[in-house]
Order: sequence, then structure tokens, then C-alpha cells
Amino acid sequence: MMNIKDRNKNVILTKVFLIVILIMPLTLFYSLYLNLYIRTPVPDVAWVSWYDDPQHEVYIGWETEDFEQCTVKYGTSRTELDEIETEGTANQFHIMNLTSLSSNTRYYYEIDYDGKIYTTGEFRTAPSIYSPFSFGLTADTQQKIGPGWHSHVAKIFDQKNYSFIAMVGDFVEDRYKAEWNDYFKRAGRWMDTIPLVPVQGNHDRAKDVDNDGEEEYFFGQYFPQSVDQVMNTNIYDTHQQFYFSFNWSSVHFQILYFPEVDIDDEEELHGINPRDYNQSFTPDHLAWIEEDLANAQDFPFRVSLFHCPITGAGFYGENFVLINELLPILHQYNVTVTVHGHAHHFERGILKNNIHLGNDLTYFVVGTGGGLADVGLCPVPETEVCTAGPSYTEAHATEDNLEFSTYTLSGELIDSYVIESEVK
Ligand SMILES: [Fe+2]
Repeated sequence: MMNIKDRNKNVILTKVFLIVILIMPLTLFYSLYLNLYIRTPVPDVAWVSWYDDPQHEVYIGWETEDFEQCTVKYGTSRTELDEIETEGTANQFHIMNLTSLSSNTRYYYEIDYDGKIYTTGEFRTAPSIYSPFSFGLTADTQQKIGPGWHSHVAKIFDQKNYSFIAMVGDFVEDRYKAEWNDYFKRAGRWMDTIPLVPVQGNHDRAKDVDNDGEEEYFFGQYFPQSVDQVMNTNIYDTHQQFYFSFNWSSVHFQILYFPEVDIDDEEELHGINPRDYNQSFTPDHLAWIEEDLANAQDFPFRVSLFHCPITGAGFYGENFVLINELLPILHQYNVTVTVHGHAHHFERGILKNNIHLGNDLTYFVVGTGGGLADVGLCPVPETEVCTAGPSYTEAHATEDNLEFSTYTLSGELIDSYVIESEVK
């Protein structure tokens, strides 16, 4: 007969066996996944974006594994790429600005080197008059402990006829090169037909990823369109503040640099991290925001995109720095909509405008692009709708209306909201 000691031993062995059986597949999966992930090579994709005039000027960006001198052929017919531009030097990070383009025109391009086609793509320039258009919104595609659903969202976007997709920050998590390769590999699915409007997140900032004493700033090498001109406004001003603006039909778009304003830092005065604060609220950035909005008052709609939400139901809650220092400017100049990531959920809310009564600001959080989802959402008084889980948001703009729709990845409508123009 088995004594108590032997029986306890058997129970322990059985438990250990079951734990090992349960953990093994997960361990195997993550070893394989992480191994493949850190070896992701540079994908042969290109992206289209612009500085401030997408009616007449766009740039094509791409990267090569080695230093290459490339040629871009482009034209308005897929079979007649009669404009040819060749780079002056060999590069790994490539930007080719195409100028003197016609508005509302579809262009096709091909990138070549060493007598081979590297990649091809197409884009349409902005219209010169108010005409209806659609655009996609997503954020926080960073992958942390698993593949997430970035590829799934990218597959859906690939079927869309958007004028562009705005990616509202946190392309990557730890800023390693392989993560950027992974981002472009997955998002590359739609980048051959849809331009990209980049917004910088806190996880996209420069970092010394290889511990050689110098920070790598991959975001800036991929996306060169920041108009930040003034350096060293304070000791935290690294001159990497990424902001610019452009017009597309009836909407003026502003891309701002508020990647993160940490208000939970117990070690710092008022809990505010001075680096986050002083990098974002530089005098030149704030002056540019006001001037840019003042010049855009005749547009039916003004949309400002920046990573850190002003308030919301997510982990970060309300941000009193953004509420006190930025929001009055947005209200003063009648910004219609702000769009954010950072918090990993979807949310729509209203920020009442007490300066211009009736011109309330609608905010969206679209941080559901593929990373971990928030749990335990706590709606704030401004919250109208909030939900965690995979989703994507699209907008349709006319001269009179701006309509936002958010869907699950299986196509079920989560939220739809129409804003009418105040310009009559
Ligand atoms: Fe973030």
C-alpha cells in the first residue's frame, strides 16, 4: 500500500508534470516568435507622405538593407513612367521628394537599383477644390508580448480606398530596428496604394538601442517632414519635435508633438516629468500651433492629431497639463476634432468649448491598432463611447460634414458620429 508520503510525492510530481505540459507550448511559441521577430529583415516596401502641399508635392520613402543609389520612375500611367529621378548618393534610408505634381491625379511609381525593380506603388494627390474623401485612423501598433492584430488591421486597410491613413503614434515598443522592420512589413500591405500620415508617439522617440553612446532616431529617418526649426529652447529640446500641417479638401490637418505628458511622476515637482513637458511645450511649438490654426480659420474643419490624449477612460485618465495649456488654444481656434493613441482603447468624447459656445471639440482615441488592449476602462465625464478590443476608425469628409465610423475587425459598427461644419 502507498503511504501518505508517497501519495503526496505523486501529487506533487503530477502537478509539476501538468504545469510543464501547459507551459511548454507557450514557451516554444514565444521562443520561435521572438526569434523570428528580432531577425525581421528590411522589407522591400515604400511609403508615400508629404510636407505641406499634397496637391503638388509628395515624397516617397523606402529603406534598403545596404547602401544603394536608387532611381525613381513615375508618371500618370502605369505603363509610362516617363519622369525619372536618380539619387545623388548611395543611402540606406531614402527620401525622394516629387514636385510639380498635378492635383487630384493618380501617379504610379517604381523604385529601381542595380537594374532590378525594388518595389512599386501608386498614390493620388490632394484635390484643389472641396470634394468628398475618406481617411483611416489607427495608432499603437507596437507589439510587446505577442504578434497582436496589426496584420489583421493592415489587411482590412488594404481593401480600402482611403486618401491616406494617419498613424497616431507608437509604431514600435522598444525602438529596436527589427521592430521597425516588422512595422513596415505588416503595414506595407496597404502602403503601396495608400499614403501614410505619421504622428510621433513616446515609443517612437530616439533611443540608444545598441548601447554605443549615440541615440538612434529611426522615426526621423523614415519621416523627415517636421517643420521644427528652433533648436535648444531648453535643455530637453532635442530638435526632434515632430509637427507639420497640410490641407486636404475641406479639412486642415495638424500633426502635433505631444507624445506623452507624464503627470504621474512622484519624484518630480507636481508629478510632471520635465523631459516630457519641456520637449512638447516649447515656445516655438506653441507659437506655430497658434499661427497655423489662425491661418486655417476659413476651412470647414480643423483636425489635430497628437499621441497623448487630453482626457479619456484609459489608464492615464485626464491630463491636466494638456487641459490647462493646450486645450484653450484648440478651443480658441475652433479645432473640430483631436485624434490620439497612447491609451489602448477606442473612445469618442466631447470637450465643451467655453470660448466659442457651441463649437465643442470632439476627441477620438484610436489606440487599438494591434498591441495590448486596455482593461478596466473608467469613463470620464467627457466620454460618450469607449470600448477596448481590436478596432479601426475611418472618416468621410465633405464640405458640410465630417463623419467618423469605428468598426470591429469583423466589420461590425461600434460607433458612428457626424459633425456638421460651423462655416456657413
Ligand atoms: Fe504611447
